[in-house]
Amino acid sequence: MIKKTIAAVSLSFLSFTLSAQQKENTYTGPKINKTEMDQKVNSLLEKMTIDEKVGQLNLLTPGGGVATGAVVSDNVQQKIKDGKVGGLFGVSGPEKIKIAQEYAVNDTRLGIPLLIGSDVIHGYKTTFPIPLGSASSWDMELLKQTAQVAAKEATADGINWNFSPMVDVSRDPRWGRVAEGAGEDAYLGSQIARAMVEGYQGMDLTETNTMLATVKHFALYGAPEAGRDYNTVDMSRVKMFNQYLPPYKAAVDAGVASVMSSFNDVDGVPATGNRWLLTELLREQWGFDGFVVSDYTSVNEMIAHGMGDLQDVSALALKAGLDMDMVGEGFVTTLKKSLEEGRVTEEEITTAARRILEAKYKLGLFEDPYKYLDKKRVKKDILTKEHRALARKAAARSFVLLKKDQNVLPIDKKAKIALIGPLGNNQSNMPGTWSPTGDFKNAIPVLEGLKNVAPKAKITYAKGANIVNDEQMAKNVNVFGPKVEISEESPEELLAEALKVAKDADVIVAAVGEASEMSGEASSKTDLLIPESQKVLIRELAKTGKPMVLVLMSGRPLNISEEAQLPVDILQVWHSGVEAGNAIGDVIFGDYNPSGKLTASWPRNVGQVPVYYSMKTTGRPGTQEGFEKFKSKYLDVDNSPLYPFGYGLSYTEFEYGATKISSEEINMSGNITVSTTVTNTGDYDGEEVVQLYIHDKVRSITPPQKQLIGFQKISLKKGESKTVEFTISAEDLKFYNSSLEYVAEPGDFEVGIAPSSDFEFSSTFNLKK
Ligand code: BGC
Repeated sequence: MIKKTIAAVSLSFLSFTLSAQQKENTYTGPKINKTEMDQKVNSLLEKMTIDEKVGQLNLLTPGGGVATGAVVSDNVQQKIKDGKVGGLFGVSGPEKIKIAQEYAVNDTRLGIPLLIGSDVIHGYKTTFPIPLGSASSWDMELLKQTAQVAAKEATADGINWNFSPMVDVSRDPRWGRVAEGAGEDAYLGSQIARAMVEGYQGMDLTETNTMLATVKHFALYGAPEAGRDYNTVDMSRVKMFNQYLPPYKAAVDAGVASVMSSFNDVDGVPATGNRWLLTELLREQWGFDGFVVSDYTSVNEMIAHGMGDLQDVSALALKAGLDMDMVGEGFVTTLKKSLEEGRVTEEEITTAARRILEAKYKLGLFEDPYKYLDKKRVKKDILTKEHRALARKAAARSFVLLKKDQNVLPIDKKAKIALIGPLGNNQSNMPGTWSPTGDFKNAIPVLEGLKNVAPKAKITYAKGANIVNDEQMAKNVNVFGPKVEISEESPEELLAEALKVAKDADVIVAAVGEASEMSGEASSKTDLLIPESQKVLIRELAKTGKPMVLVLMSGRPLNISEEAQLPVDILQVWHSGVEAGNAIGDVIFGDYNPSGKLTASWPRNVGQVPVYYSMKTTGRPGTQEGFEKFKSKYLDVDNSPLYPFGYGLSYTEFEYGATKISSEEINMSGNITVSTTVTNTGDYDGEEVVQLYIHDKVRSITPPQKQLIGFQKISLKKGESKTVEFTISAEDLKFYNSSLEYVAEPGDFEVGIAPSSDFEFSSTFNLKK
């Protein structure tokens, strides 16, 4: 357990101010009265028929809203009345939900209420930045607050169960859903998983502003072969345990109420039917006591995976430990038959039903099935001024300043600005992928935001280019409505207009990048470049010689090797939610000094993928930059990414002192303090994410070159210094060995405190037996 302390030293007065203990997150979930729960659930189960139990395992979506799969459920109303439904998703609003809930409560024999689920991934109506953006804030308190607001809004609209957090570690920017997770690192991902679960579930699930959380997609969904969504995953257990499973486990340790199984296979068995994964690991080793829901038709999809017919795969899933079947209705149509044929047991069905009933009990639905259906809350609790203010704050904190060598930012609030680019005056791409509950019409476009923040600036806008010129790509991206609109004007006309607007300006702000649906589910890409239509625009604008900043939007790390060579500054703003434009204004004009740091490496080209900071050295690491024959290198590019994990600039400068250690030795029960002094030597107040890495020099399985084991976000006034301290114990040095035991092995460790993962270690300590 790393304890963190910040001792702030104000150098100007040479006096110590305080030592603030930052607490490690110790949240373990909401309180539950187990005895009372058992009584209630047992008494219900005693009365239930097999059909009624199986009915509880069925999760349907009536469609009409946003369905994320190819099929939607039919005859939902009758099925509820027949006791064949345990929960619904894709329905919202107290009025609609009340009707459904009344069918369940009034028209079925036992009147068991429904769970009402939804994908509230990055905010409900108040959309926050896409998760990959939010993660870049490295601010756990802020992330928790966004989850709290999401829970408050969703529950005000009748929802009591969230399909979030998505914690799939991913090192593959080709995979579209990299946008939905926290990036490449298991440690950071675990901290975020905890913060989100705590935010959604709070201390008391019976409160009307908290909801059940779901950690997904269990497991390893972020590592599909070739970055193609839903593709097969094949990974050693040692890699899983050390690098991919920790965030799911962190969510379980934080008391997450449900787990969603993933579409992919794990060790050759689809996750949804994988008993090792869903029972041995999740329940027996990790002690998970909530319920497991399948992903959208993932039970049925095991047919295509080659695991048998619908009856086979449904039995397989139940026996593996799956409790609830999303949309596919394999459970409800085949489990009784399988029971009669002796292929599943009554106990297995009862256990699954018990877990669903327990979830309903935890929410207090048996006491009051209509508790989330207070119409007054819709007005009072959704899209409030306070929530929008938090969205603006979260957005500004998600931005990463990638390049500032041209000193264009911050821009003077009275400047003559040419705002150019297809994302400069666009609303529909602002909320970001996976925000079906939000309405893009509430989003602030960049143009409006710049005007709000700097009313005295003279801003002229030109589109300059289409997001893409390729009609087929536009069609593929526009499945959920127009994100890419190809103009009537030709690319040449768009460009000419942009160059005209640029000519009269002091500074060019180019709002460019990917449409929001170029990332997200089923949106994998083999090309990570900014679309060519916009590359042409950027090149031509750069040739004008005007000061220029790229305000870059994307849901994934891009390959911007070309743009990084241009005389431009670059601010990465992801797709940052309902307040996007205002937050971009706040940062562009210097009201907020950017402090985001990347949580996934940006490659030099797509051929480097996967490239991540914790790669192993290999036996032939090479000793210098550039090519070396017979070393583990490329002929054409360096091994390092263009922008590494943990990287991000500020308008000010931070200088790091040497990493100091309190002792060169540590034993299994002791600890040491590692510290450094960080000084703000630039011209602005600012915030900095101070990162702690180790390298285990000798151990029984090959170690990563670097491993993040701690971080603190501090704020420093211009000229101020702070000493940042971390306490390291053997617990922080543990890893899973080849027998999958979680151990710390004696030996030498390098340690370093740094502003990003790109640094050289200079301190060493030894872990004694
Ligand atoms: C996605 C899940 C989501 C589910 C329900 C699936 O396609 O993979 O993340 O929760 O749909 O919408």
